[in-house]
Amino acid sequence: MRLLLTLVLALGLIPAPVEYSPEKSHVCFKKAVASLEPWQRQEAYRISFTKGRAKIEALTPEGRFRAGKTLEQLKALGELPTGTIFDYPRLRYRGLMIDESRSFKGLDFLKKQIDAMALLKLNVLHLHLDDSAGWRIESEAYPFLTGKTAFRKGRTYHEWEAGKYQFTTADDPEGYGGYYTREELKELVAYAAERYITVIPEIEMPGHSMEVGYAYPEVLCVLPDGRLHTGAWDLCPGNEATYKLLEAVLTEVMDIFPSPFIHIGGDEATMKTWSQCVNCRSRMEEEGYTDVKQLQGYLVRRIEAFVRSHGRRIIGWDEILETGVPEGAVVQSWRGVEGGRKASEGGYDYIMSPNSHCYYNYYQDLIRKEPKAVGELVSLRFTYGYEPLGEGMDPEHLLGVQANLWTELIPTPEHAEYMLYPRLFALAETAWTPAANKEYKGFRKRARRLLDVFRERGYNTFDMDTESELALSGFQRFEQLEQYKANETAH
Ligand code: ACM
Ligand code: ZN
Repeated sequence: MRLLLTLVLALGLIPAPVEYSPEKSHVCFKKAVASLEPWQRQEAYRISFTKGRAKIEALTPEGRFRAGKTLEQLKALGELPTGTIFDYPRLRYRGLMIDESRSFKGLDFLKKQIDAMALLKLNVLHLHLDDSAGWRIESEAYPFLTGKTAFRKGRTYHEWEAGKYQFTTADDPEGYGGYYTREELKELVAYAAERYITVIPEIEMPGHSMEVGYAYPEVLCVLPDGRLHTGAWDLCPGNEATYKLLEAVLTEVMDIFPSPFIHIGGDEATMKTWSQCVNCRSRMEEEGYTDVKQLQGYLVRRIEAFVRSHGRRIIGWDEILETGVPEGAVVQSWRGVEGGRKASEGGYDYIMSPNSHCYYNYYQDLIRKEPKAVGELVSLRFTYGYEPLGEGMDPEHLLGVQANLWTELIPTPEHAEYMLYPRLFALAETAWTPAANKEYKGFRKRARRLLDVFRERGYNTFDMDTESELALSGFQRFEQLEQYKANETAH
């Protein structure tokens, strides 16, 4: 191993810093950061350790904050190095998404995860605030959104599904749910901002929106006989009432969240009701459309223009690639890495959160030993091995990486933390540390130590000491794991 890399990894830090030298630096800090991108300079810092004292250099309060978190981690790990740490981020967008619709975890939980994110030098918390299972952000203009759908029958998502999607009200002792008030969200935004973390709100459209049609039936598609298409998954993109609601909600959202980005979802619209709907059909005729899919493009373009007119940019899941990406929109790759690749080819800014590597609601170890989860095996080793910049992809347009925590099978805050830690350590290192400084074996040792710090601080974590040989080997597909196991027993 190269000498400098050995030194960087000798520190217990996660994410590992760019450089560590046992010597004092003789280059002036301003000169050391001169060749960096402006967004890297903003977060760059240097810490010189002499005689048990640490001297921080940075160009901004944000840089000083990042340095402070490095010191906090070293202290918690009981390490006091000598020499110099010089550090700055690899990627500008380092995110975590939490789904608050399928299970509602509340303000204290979110603040606690923001503390963890700050320690790991992550800088974006993306909140999935609404989905069919409940609307979680107070709206003055449309009070029934929370009034009629923030509480449901069924403690877990699957109980709710099995009971045929029944909503209830806050006063029902059997009801499950909750929502965030404007004040709570403003408090959260301020709490995050003090830690140099941006909160990006997501208002999902036009799919995953059963609850909106339940609260306000005017956004539903209309059948030729005049009946409403109740229970529909998608909003009606042909109907003006839909835009009136979305624009009113987005205006309120932009008032609460100063984020330069507003996430508008855009994934998994079924478009099932659109071909029969009188409003959708007349919209198609007006616009000269031949395929209902074009209605999704119409909605995304219209909402993008609205958000842009307020000085913000939209982020959409990678389905927005299929109906024409509006100028200025950011594409978030989730169906594997293909969306990111296509966005890169199209010259769009993109964020990588492929389900193959960055979905932390997926299993982190063997099915038989873990709580019920989703998908393939996203073990610590497998997610650590993720390189967001695939061959031929444009680094200029890669904003960053994000882990996603969908909560259909994660009913409690404790369970959510169990799925996040230590895997979020791996994401943090992928996002911050130069790819050349990454090395799994050393990372695993550091993760094991940092996990103890997290436990001391009251986080519920996965137990790395129980990690199976198969997860440790870095396999992903469970079929491969079965094959591997069969070979092991055969030998
Ligand atoms: C998604 O996982 N449906 C974005
Ligand atoms: Zn319609």
